[in-house]
Amino acid sequence: MVYPGLAQLATRGLLPERWAVIGTGRKPIGDDELADLVRSSLEEHGDPEHAGALDGHVSYATTFTEDDPGELVDAIRDARRDLADGGDEAGVTVVHYLAVPPSAFEPTTRGLRAHGLAEGARVVYEKPYGTSPESFERLDALVHEVLDEEQVFRIDHFLGKEATQNLHVLRFGNELFGGVWNRRHVAQVQVDVPETLDVADRADFYDETGAALDMLVTHLFQIAAEVAMEPPTALDADHLATAREAVIDCFRPLDPAEVVLGQFDGYRDIDGIADDSTTDTFVAARLWVDNDRWRGVPFLLRTGKRMAASAQRVTLVLKTPDELFGEPVGPGRISLSLAGDGAIDITTTVKQPGPDLTLATGTASLALDDVEPGEPLTPYASLLHDVLAGDRTLFTTPHGLEAAWRAFAPLLGPDRPDPEPYEPGTWGPARADELAGPDGWVLTR
Ligand code: BG6
Repeated sequence: MVYPGLAQLATRGLLPERWAVIGTGRKPIGDDELADLVRSSLEEHGDPEHAGALDGHVSYATTFTEDDPGELVDAIRDARRDLADGGDEAGVTVVHYLAVPPSAFEPTTRGLRAHGLAEGARVVYEKPYGTSPESFERLDALVHEVLDEEQVFRIDHFLGKEATQNLHVLRFGNELFGGVWNRRHVAQVQVDVPETLDVADRADFYDETGAALDMLVTHLFQIAAEVAMEPPTALDADHLATAREAVIDCFRPLDPAEVVLGQFDGYRDIDGIADDSTTDTFVAARLWVDNDRWRGVPFLLRTGKRMAASAQRVTLVLKTPDELFGEPVGPGRISLSLAGDGAIDITTTVKQPGPDLTLATGTASLALDDVEPGEPLTPYASLLHDVLAGDRTLFTTPHGLEAAWRAFAPLLGPDRPDPEPYEPGTWGPARADELAGPDGWVLTR
C-alpha cells in the first residue's frame, strides 16, 4: 500500500518538487526488477491511472546490517546530493519507511544509528510496534536512544481513513449525535473487520504475528479509542490525538474468558506456515472502557481472515426507547464503513408507508466521496503526506501504545485461549457469536 500511496500523492501534485524512492531489501534485485515490482503493485493495489507515477523516481539498493552498510548507505548519500542539486543537503528530508516484520525493527534501528542515517531523518514504523508489553518497552527505549520522539512516526493506517476522521466530526460537529454518545443511550459498540483475504502472500509475517497482534491491539484498539475519547479541549488535530490516546488508559485489561481466537481450516497447509502453528487468524473480544461515559457498555471487536465477507464497520447500537408503540422494531444505529472512501449509515425506526401505524427500520447512507469536492486520499497517501509535512497527529504515541499493551497483555500469558478451528468462508468459531449478546453481530443480523 506504500507505493500506491506515493503514486496517488505524485499524481495529485502533493509530493515535493524533487523526490526519490530507494527500495531496499536483502536480495540484490536491481533497479529494473524493483521497477517491475512497483508497476505490478500499482496495477494490483492502486488506481490504474497512477500506474506510471513513480517511473524514473525509484531505484534499488541492498540493505544494511549493523556491521555492513550494504549499498544503501551510499545510495542515500548520492540521492541527497542529487536532490539538493548543488544546494544545501541539509534541506533534503530523508524518510526511512520500515515496512518490515516486528522482529526487524530493533536491528534496523541499530543499523540506522551505526551508519549515521538517523540524524535529521524521519522514521516510519509499521505496526505492530512491539509484540508484547516488554518488547514494546525495549523497542521504544532503543528508538528513543537513537531518535527524538519528533522524528518517529508509528503508523496505524486505520487512523488515516476518511471515515475514521469523520467519527469525531460527526460526534462533535452535530448536536444530534454528540448528545447520545454515552452509556445512557448506547447499548454496545461494535468494531467489526471481517476479511475474505487469505494470508498466503505474506505467510512469514502473518505466522509470526496473527490476528490479535496484526489487527486487535493495533487497528481495532485505535478505532475503539476514536469512538470512546472524551471531548478534547479544542477540535484541532493535536488535542484530538491527545484525547484518543488518553482514553486507552481506561481500557480494562482483556479477560481471556471474553476473547475467542480462531484458526481457519487449511491454514497450516499454506507454504511457509508451521504444521503445528497455533497462530490465530481470527479474534473476537469484548472490551470494557472503565470511565463514567462508557461503564457497562461492551465494545465488541472482531476480525479474521478467510471469513464470509469483507467489511470494516464501526457501529454504535443505540438503546431502544421505552415502548410507545408496542414491540420496537430494532435498535437505532449510528454506523460508519471505514472501507474504501468511507460511508456513514444511520438506521432509525420509521413508520411503514401506508394506512396503518406499522413500524419498520430504515437506513440513510452517505457515501463520503459524494461530499464535494469528493477527492479523498487513501489512508496510506494521507499518512505519507503527513510524514512529509512533519504532522504527527494521526500517529500513535508511546503513552497510548503502553496503555494498549497493558490492556492486551492477558492474551499473551498462559490464559491465552487456544484458537478454535473454523471453516473458511464462515463467520469464525460459533462461540464468537455468543460474545456479542442475544442480537449478535450487526453485520450478520
Ligand atoms: C493491515 C493488516 O495492517 O491491514 C492486514 O496487516 C489487513 O492483515 C489490512 O488485511 C487491512 O487493511 P485495509 O487496507 O483493507 O484497510
